[in-house]
Parts: sequence; C-alpha cells; structure tokens
Amino acid sequence: MRKPIVAGNWKMHKTVAEAEELVNVLSGDLEKITSVESVFCVPFTCLSKVSSLLKESHIGVGVQNIHWADYGAFTGEISPLMVKEFANYAIIGHSERRTFFGETDITVNKRLSTALKHGIVPIMCVGETLEENQKGNTVEVITHQMEIGLREIEKSLAGNIVIAYEPIWAIGTGLACDPTTANNIILQAIRKPLEKIFGLELSQSIRVQYGGSVNGGNAYDYFSQSEIDGALVGGASLKSDFIDIVKAAAK
Ligand code: PGA
Repeated sequence: MRKPIVAGNWKMHKTVAEAEELVNVLSGDLEKITSVESVFCVPFTCLSKVSSLLKESHIGVGVQNIHWADYGAFTGEISPLMVKEFANYAIIGHSERRTFFGETDITVNKRLSTALKHGIVPIMCVGETLEENQKGNTVEVITHQMEIGLREIEKSLAGNIVIAYEPIWAIGTGLACDPTTANNIILQAIRKPLEKIFGLELSQSIRVQYGGSVNGGNAYDYFSQSEIDGALVGGASLKSDFIDIVKAAAK
C-alpha cells in the first residue's frame, strides 16, 4: 500500500506573518488525518518559522527547489544543507522553473540525485504543454523527462522519490485533466519507465501525484484512480480547501 501524499506548493506567496496565519488555519484539522502525508512546500524565507510551528506535528515541510551542490559560488540558489535544517521535501523541476528559469531534465536529474543523498524527499514534476498534448506527444514527452530525470539514480534510494504528473495546461487554469485520462498517462508514461529503470517491485512502491487545478471538489475523483497516490496542489493549498483535499485522500 502506498501512503497518500498531498503537498501544497505555496509558490511565491506569503510573508512570514501570513505563513504563520495559514499554518494556524490548516494545521489543526490536518493533524487529525494521520493516514495521509501532508506537506507544505513554502518559500525559503518562511522555512524557519513554518518548521518551528510544525515541530511537534506529522505535517511535513518542503521547499520548491534545491541546488545540487552543498555550497559554492551559485548566486541566488539554496543548498540542500541549508534546507535540511528545516525541511524534508523538495519540489524538483516544477514546470514554472522549467519555463521561466531554464530548468532542464539534466538539472532536474542533478537536483534529484542530491536531494536523495541528503535524505530529502524529491517531488519530481513532469508534464506536457498544451501543444505537445494536442499533437499527441504526451507519453513520449513525459517518458523522456522520466528517463533523463532519473538517470543513474541509486536504486537503494529510489523508494523515496515522489513523481508529480502535472499537465502544464492544467496548472492554475481551472482546466483540470480528466482523472481517467491522467491515470492512463501515469500508467504509460510514468509507471512504465519507473519499471524499466527500477524493476517492477520498486516501481510499484513509488508514489505518483496528480497536479493541476486540484481542489476540494475534484480531489476524490483523482484519488480513486489506481495509479494516483496524492496531489501536488497550488492555488487551493493557500486556503481551507487544502483540508478538504487531504480529507479526500484519507477516504
Ligand atoms: P494549481 O498548481 O493547483 O494552482 O493548478 C499546481 C502546481 O503548480 O503544482
């Protein structure tokens, strides 16, 4: 049985004071739901505050990116050693980083490999653009992202990887992907490469999330699919809707 994991991607939202307020609104109810791993992926400036607020809690804390080096001349980046003091999860290769900040499958691979070495759970994002989808290239595009992103990853650490299938056209648009379609894409473009790379048994222990316009109303339709083990949530993670999503994952 794969334990459901629902992660909120706060993106570039919330000052420290606002983050404290949001954690206080969400954490009471989330605390009670122990059958789901819930995670807040917060801006770096909120890490210290949020991790101290959640110190006694089973709610996880994550970041939205990490660098592959422990330290060095990398202006504007953050090292896994710095993150590790506060967080156990890192989103890697989100489409907004690929689109706006030049992230490639090769840098995704480096960041992912470093996260695993430091005991940080990487949430690796894959997904196709609208154009790729309309041309019928979805499976091919994601398979490629999987193969390069997971190249030379140590098998003994691979069980900690979480994959997030996020069709880019569904992110922040309200145009969520049909749950059955998402499940089929995950089977063909994510589970198949995972099996090829890590073998059947290990591949089946790896959790796969769906992300893209998930909300309290549609979450259960995703979680009732065989291959979907949770969600990566943007907009709805900044409000009490997030509690409904986690509740749906617990059903
Ligand atoms: P959304 O974002 O839930 O606002 O569509 C998802 C994401 O970017 O991870």
